[in-house]
Amino acid sequence: MRMYDLIMKKRNGIVLTQEEINFMVEGFTNGSIPDYQMSAMMMAIYFRGMNEDETLYLTMAMAHSGDILDLSRINGLKADKHSTGGVGDKTSLVLGPMVAALGVPVAKMSGRGLGHTGGTIDKLESFEGFSVDISTEDFIKNVNSIKMAIIGQTADLAPADKKLYALRDVTATVDNMSLIASSIMSKKLAAGADTIVLDVKTGSGAFMKTEEDSFALAKEMVQIGKGAGRNTVAIVSDMDQPLGYAVGNALEVKEAIDTLNGEGSKELLELCVTLGSYMLVGTKNAATIEEAREKLYQTIEDKSALNKFAEFIRAQGGNDAPIFDTSLLPNASLIEEIKATTQGYVEHIITDEIGIVSLILGGGRETKESEIDLGVGLVLHKKVGDYVNIGDSLATIYANDKDKLQAAKERFKKTYSFTNEKKEKPKFIKGIVE
Ligand code: URA
Repeated sequence: MRMYDLIMKKRNGIVLTQEEINFMVEGFTNGSIPDYQMSAMMMAIYFRGMNEDETLYLTMAMAHSGDILDLSRINGLKADKHSTGGVGDKTSLVLGPMVAALGVPVAKMSGRGLGHTGGTIDKLESFEGFSVDISTEDFIKNVNSIKMAIIGQTADLAPADKKLYALRDVTATVDNMSLIASSIMSKKLAAGADTIVLDVKTGSGAFMKTEEDSFALAKEMVQIGKGAGRNTVAIVSDMDQPLGYAVGNALEVKEAIDTLNGEGSKELLELCVTLGSYMLVGTKNAATIEEAREKLYQTIEDKSALNKFAEFIRAQGGNDAPIFDTSLLPNASLIEEIKATTQGYVEHIITDEIGIVSLILGGGRETKESEIDLGVGLVLHKKVGDYVNIGDSLATIYANDKDKLQAAKERFKKTYSFTNEKKEKPKFIKGIVE
């Protein structure tokens, strides 16, 4: 079998067999198939698509490309959550501690930034010393003792996805339904949790821009999860504007901490409570969604989720001081307001462009080797449906480089549109696929 022939086959729109997909994944993982051939294949898949069988084979091949975590030594039913990626999506930082504070084992595998979206691991590295490169032993020990641990893909878990994820990030091949479904589900299956709750984003900041595509992706992933014997549910949530107000690694960590203190964005909290309620019911820690929601709100009121977050950061080597004093988080030297030059209701925010503004400032990777600047990004002050007067601040930009600040300001200009008609706030939770 030759990779060249497989690329040609897919380029011409022909369905790949399980054997061919296994060959491609194995070869890419062991290095015999180079990045440039895999990039060409990803682009062919991007344009030609994959059917359900091909997607399942790709998921299984990637899930089995390394170790499969045996979590049987963790007491109780384990829960994991994964987002399809969005702008300002700091959900895991709030949700994980809320659920863990209620005694549900959160055994989570997270990723880094992808395309215009941020990643949980990059955000967590805002805490000095924090690492997701922990051994399986420590991962299991931490979930047993404090109920929460986050691992990266370094420990030979779904290494094919890890390599492919980095490649797709820089070759404009992220936003394809089969590639997203297989990427997410291969990790979730390899990481071993019993209950998988998926947060499928929809809108201009998501990889799936339409509700139709987002629901189709949700169904595809739920089907793969259930087929593999995991209790899987997907929530489709709005990403037609950033989630909350902050975009950029340390800025998002600050918003997450504010939310754990009961002072953050209402939508972020609502999303965490919705996702968390399915994690609680799925692991039999609540009998009904209503009971689960009440319990989750309680973790914010009594600060048990905030304290759990600190415990988790410490357990993975991080300095937890910024949780109690957010001014200690990485920061930026240049801070500028962007003032509105038009008045009216905010009609739309081109959300992936907001993600790119953060990327331009240094908050994401331009190439696989790029270093992230944790302190940069932006904080929005106006969201869809808000009324804006000329001169009001739309956003504050945080930068560490004058040229990047200038480029970011230019790019930001086209992101907001206004209307004189009153604009309703968009429905936030679009639906649930069980
Ligand atoms: N998140 C993932 O883990 N993979 C994707 O392809 C997209 C979002």
